[in-house]
Amino acid sequence: MVGSKKVVNHNNNVPIIEDHKKQTYHWQSEAGAKKSSVDDMVLLTKITEDAITDNLKRRFLEDKIYTYIGPVLVAVNPFKQLPYFGEREIEMYQGAAQYEVPPHIYSLADNMYRNMLIDSDSQCVIISGESGAGKTVSAKFIMNYITRVSGGGQKVQQVKEIILESNPLLESFGNAKTTRNNNSSRFGKYVEIQFSRGGEPLGGKISNFLLEKSRVHSLNEGERSFHIFYQICAGATPEMKSDLGVVSPEYFKYLNQSGVYKVDGTNDAHEFQETLRAMSVMGITEGIQMDILRIVAAILHMSNVSFMEQNNAAFITDPNFLEFPAYLLGIDSQVLGQKLVSRVFDSKWGGKSERVDVTLNTEQAQFTRDAWTKGLYSRLFDYIVETVNGAMVTDANLMCMGILDIYGFEIFAKNGFEQFCINYVNEKLQQIFIELTLKSEQEEYHSEGIQWSPIKFFDNKVVCDLIETKRPPGIMCILDDTCATMSAKSEGADEDFHRKMESQVGTNPYYQKFNNGFTIKHYAGNVSYHIDNFCEKNRDVLFVDIIEVMQKSSNAFIRSLFPDVIQSGAKGRPTTAGTKIRTQANELVTTLMKCMPHYIRCIKPNETKKPHDWDDQMVKHQVGYLGLKENIRVKRAGFAYRRPYHKFLQRYAILTRETWPSWHGDLVQGIHHIMQSVNMDPSQYQIGRSKIFVKDPESLYMLEESRERKYDHHARIIQMAFKKFFSKQRYLKEREEASDLLVNRKERCRYSLNRNFHGDYIGVEYKPGICALIPRREKVEFALTVDKFDRKFRKTKRDLIVTKSNLYLIGRVQVKKGPDKCKFIDVIKRKIELENIVQATLSTYQDDLVLIHVRNDYESLLEVKLKTEFLMVLNRKLKERHNRELPLNFINSFDFRVRKTGWGGGGVRKVMFSAGPTEEPHFTVAGSTLTVRIAQGLPSSSRPGLHRDITPDIRILANTMRAPAHNSSNRNFNKHGPTKPSYRPPDPASLPPRPANLPPSPANLPPSPPSLDRHSPNSSKFITRPSGPAPGIPGTRGPPIGGRGFPVIPGGGRGSPIGMGGGRGPRMGTGSIRGPRPVGRGGGRGPSNLPVNNPPFRLPVLSPPIPNMQPPPPPSDPPPANQPTIGTGNKLYPSRGGANLQQVSMPKKPPIEKPKPKIPQVRALYNYDASDTDELTFVEGDILQLVHEDASGWSTCKLRGREGFCPANYLEKI
Ligand SMILES: Nc1ncnc2c1ncn2[C@@H]1O[C@H](COP(=O)(O)OP(=O)(O)OP(=O)(O)O)[C@@H](O)[C@H]1O
Ligand SMILES: [Mg+2]
Repeated sequence: MVGSKKVVNHNNNVPIIEDHKKQTYHWQSEAGAKKSSVDDMVLLTKITEDAITDNLKRRFLEDKIYTYIGPVLVAVNPFKQLPYFGEREIEMYQGAAQYEVPPHIYSLADNMYRNMLIDSDSQCVIISGESGAGKTVSAKFIMNYITRVSGGGQKVQQVKEIILESNPLLESFGNAKTTRNNNSSRFGKYVEIQFSRGGEPLGGKISNFLLEKSRVHSLNEGERSFHIFYQICAGATPEMKSDLGVVSPEYFKYLNQSGVYKVDGTNDAHEFQETLRAMSVMGITEGIQMDILRIVAAILHMSNVSFMEQNNAAFITDPNFLEFPAYLLGIDSQVLGQKLVSRVFDSKWGGKSERVDVTLNTEQAQFTRDAWTKGLYSRLFDYIVETVNGAMVTDANLMCMGILDIYGFEIFAKNGFEQFCINYVNEKLQQIFIELTLKSEQEEYHSEGIQWSPIKFFDNKVVCDLIETKRPPGIMCILDDTCATMSAKSEGADEDFHRKMESQVGTNPYYQKFNNGFTIKHYAGNVSYHIDNFCEKNRDVLFVDIIEVMQKSSNAFIRSLFPDVIQSGAKGRPTTAGTKIRTQANELVTTLMKCMPHYIRCIKPNETKKPHDWDDQMVKHQVGYLGLKENIRVKRAGFAYRRPYHKFLQRYAILTRETWPSWHGDLVQGIHHIMQSVNMDPSQYQIGRSKIFVKDPESLYMLEESRERKYDHHARIIQMAFKKFFSKQRYLKEREEASDLLVNRKERCRYSLNRNFHGDYIGVEYKPGICALIPRREKVEFALTVDKFDRKFRKTKRDLIVTKSNLYLIGRVQVKKGPDKCKFIDVIKRKIELENIVQATLSTYQDDLVLIHVRNDYESLLEVKLKTEFLMVLNRKLKERHNRELPLNFINSFDFRVRKTGWGGGGVRKVMFSAGPTEEPHFTVAGSTLTVRIAQGLPSSSRPGLHRDITPDIRILANTMRAPAHNSSNRNFNKHGPTKPSYRPPDPASLPPRPANLPPSPANLPPSPPSLDRHSPNSSKFITRPSGPAPGIPGTRGPPIGGRGFPVIPGGGRGSPIGMGGGRGPRMGTGSIRGPRPVGRGGGRGPSNLPVNNPPFRLPVLSPPIPNMQPPPPPSDPPPANQPTIGTGNKLYPSRGGANLQQVSMPKKPPIEKPKPKIPQVRALYNYDASDTDELTFVEGDILQLVHEDASGWSTCKLRGREGFCPANYLEKI
């Protein structure tokens, strides 16, 4: 790609820089090469599990981890950092339609965010996949993206920080290394970010699910406990260590049982600092942070309390080990010891209350110790979640975006109650996916009467029912019943549960009993669960007497974790862990169902956690149980979008006059009307019984795009009115400022005295070649095509660009070799840092020559037609950035130090000025001296405001200058005087590229005037570097906008409609030039042959403030045919005149013809308010005399004795 001319590829995703130095993205490097895989698997030729696996594999090996199935994102864990998650991608995916850019999680996130804003609907993303598949990483990418692209002030930034920092905090307390994942989430979480209507995150809420707290005390081989335990050992300061009694992890029983202390690529000490920092961000004081760490350390110390047995009763092996945990927990060490080996039961099971005081055996004592520590830990974890929530709570009832990152489906060698719950939740999530993507979608087609052939799939509802139903009782119910009838001690309860299951669900085909447990046929595979401790873990109560001890702790924080009200003899069943997770899962489903769902299906490619390692069988298994094949089938045959009639009409009402603001007729007719107005292919939509179904996403984009342009247009009109008002005042100020520089020092040219300053006379934003040369952060302050004099005083065209820090002279060169051979490209011929401009020298005459003196370098002699504005801008920038003024020297004879090139270059030339006969400068070269002769101009004391009637149209000047710009590098200077003028109306080809089909104005608005210009002049003074959309330029020859009909869809191809640079549109936040501006200047009428499969639309986005809103001003009177010019023959000003305007003689201008009686007449179709002094104001019905019609779209007319420009499309000939 590097070196090629066109960067636009299928994805259309890079700034289009018509330059050999353009950048490419890694995934574009194959552009042109045969594609080995598809971005969207809906496009697969064969839909089999093998084909899907193969497609994913090919992409994975090319480091493309994302693939779509329609809107569903399939993400394969690369097990390595990939380079496409940076700033550039964040920018690139903003506002981009899915099909425009390569599959990416940012695209999904952007889609969610924009859907939320557009529809004011809450969104959620369900991230599923097995343990280690990449769910948590995906969730973090989404949060990062959203916090980056959403705006907001200081308060919002704080909320964002809390959202982001909640991740490391919760991970250190809730994640652990397992055999399947080094950072496995041992809890589920649903993060809701709440947004204002404007899309700023105002708050958030985290719901956590079932922490695997048994990990506190028992570890499987090769696994670690929660990260925080290792962090504290590695990262605590010496003072902390001595206060907490923390040493290396090998010392603590809970940690040394598995013998794994380190995790590859993880620095526990560093992460400890992160955890502390995150706690501070949550507003947790240092005091509480220490209390938290005390509990963590106490748990570790508790693990070293061991027991021995005598006469069936447990004793503490070494009571010394009680001291540290007791000290850390703020309790008496004797009480701690006593409560570990004996227990007061206050059982409330089965409605009965019994209080039993018993001594425990070793096993029971260990159980008590572990129950104590895990109870402490889980309360601590809940406290942390609550604190995070408290830090970002908002009471506003807002739309939100939910991100569900739940522990993945898992199968271990030995699976217990925790795995049972985890897999149950995953089963529920699969149910939602099936419900929404496979089942209800098909049911909806059926109920809406849409033609549809059903697609079969496995519905895992049967498995969910097996686990959770109440009638007939499912496994969880049976478990609860068993617990309810359990005595204080749990011996035999698990076996009882096992027996009951066999009798109640034993015949269920998804259940199978074995000796020590049972197997469930989950959607993701068969899992065998050992029934040991099922009942105890389900009961999940912390013994009353332990709670009582903790409530008496001397540490207030610890007391606050045990707010329990202990009532003996309380009625009813306490909530079991099973009931809790079942309730939570069902509540979660309800919450998710209320949102617009999005899905990420994470795939784990191997068990080795190595990059580029692909286990075919393993992936195929996941492809199978995730139902990807069925998903593709349904998507392929289905519809991308559906909406109830009235909602559709409401959303797209603005597209036609008849439907705006509301449609009162038959709803279906209204829909057809809107669809016809955008020339929607009838095969692209079907009308159901209550909803409309749109087939391809592209068709939806088309509607969205049209809608957006409509709003955009209105916004422009409003903005235009504002700008017009404010810019008038600004112009006056600028004119004064500019005039101050020259007053009493240089004769003035009458045309420059009163003109408005527009800044950019080139239309830089439409010049990708130039844009590519100027850094994006440099705002263009002034741009004009000028003449540069070389050592022999030959003139060459250059684009003079002044930015906040540099002055550029840009020329064009022909490419000598390579694929772009013979093409002209823009190059920087000279770049001068503004701070190095030491002075400018000018004559005292009215000529336009400016000599720029550069520190320690040669000088540049330029003929700058708009020198006053140029000097004003330079002076202003120097003042702003370098705190100094531009020294100006006015002298009629000066030396010109030329560039030293090669052997014979360098040296000094002389420039002399004297009075001449014409106001056109006459240049004569003799040896190394240039003599400039020019007639007297306005007195140097002239000030703006005196001659306001004559405001030459600078824009046509610029355009005219532009037309032949650069087209010769060595045009011969005519030493013998003025050559024949060569003015002609600007060549359309030289005009700025314009959108192919511009949207017409809304029905009730008058047409915008046509434009000749490349830029929107009134605002171009403040043009920033192009950022996204081109400004709207009314169609040159378009029909009177308004009045007639419907929105126009841009013609085919990828040319973007207005407001979109090459397929990328206005975006929130930063923007950039995204592609070549659509070329073509058709009016608002172009037929719409939108190719539905490859339409030039993009996703709806919010428009940023639209730059350059002013309507382009009209062209000025073309210079006379025989107006003198020099050198290039493109002298652009109308002739200069003397001081007395009444007597201005336009020497070479043909006499203005007196209107002849037979002059054609035109009638005004609309009102028009002149936006400049050389325009006419008229009202609808006025009859005007048509003096001259011009291809530019501006006719010269006469009304009530005054002649001026009028927009031709406001007039009709009579
Ligand atoms: N997009 C990615 N880029 C780089 N590495 C990744 C990516 N996704 C996942 N990984 C790697 O895989 C590991 C496991 O991912 P993650 O923790 O997100 O899995 P998970 O699905 O959340 O698993 P669990 O269910 O066990 O919590 C990460 O720690 C990281 O090393
Ligand atoms: Mg995870």
